[in-house]
Amino acid sequence: MFDWFGTGMLGSAYLWVKAAHVVFVIFWMAGLFMLPRFLVYHQEAAPGSAEEKLWAHREARLIAIIMNPAMVAVWALGLTLIVNIGASGEWWFRLKFLSVVGLTWFHMWMVGYARKLAAGQRTASGRTLRLLNEIPSLATIVIVILVIVRPF
Ligand code: HEM
Repeated sequence: MFDWFGTGMLGSAYLWVKAAHVVFVIFWMAGLFMLPRFLVYHQEAAPGSAEEKLWAHREARLIAIIMNPAMVAVWALGLTLIVNIGASGEWWFRLKFLSVVGLTWFHMWMVGYARKLAAGQRTASGRTLRLLNEIPSLATIVIVILVIVRPF
């Protein structure tokens, strides 16, 4: 069989799996960049207004159609890749894994907060929500450096 670029159990599918991983990373990150911004607009909409309902609807669709499926795909493909290259003991991967666990927690927190907002509860301040908007950018910088440069 052809195994032009292959390593590990994935053989020649390795690069396809890696490409799919990066594609779903882009979809997931797009959602992680959009949702905190939606939450800021949602929180600032007048309680009970049509605008507030529209934001709740947009958030629910973004989460269900893009963010949740993309997150599951990124995890499944990423774990397949790590089994394939057998680098789970390396520091770049351990630190990447920690960052991604943090990003997954951030995803869950935002989904929970979108539900709270939809139920009329505004427990976080606008300033906190604005600060949270910076997390996906920071995580992207850290994770991309870890996987490409592998400084550790
Ligand atoms: C969800 C858990 C994740 C796991 C378990 C995981 C694991 C991996 C593994 C093992 C590789 C393969 C490295 C190689 O073949 O040399 C990889 C590649 C990559 N990952 Fe992830 N990853 C995850 C999430 C993410 C996230 C959230 C990002 C970006 C924000 C990301 C960005 C990348 C990039 C850009 C590559 C390609 C690097 C290259 O080989 O050139 N990954 N990932």
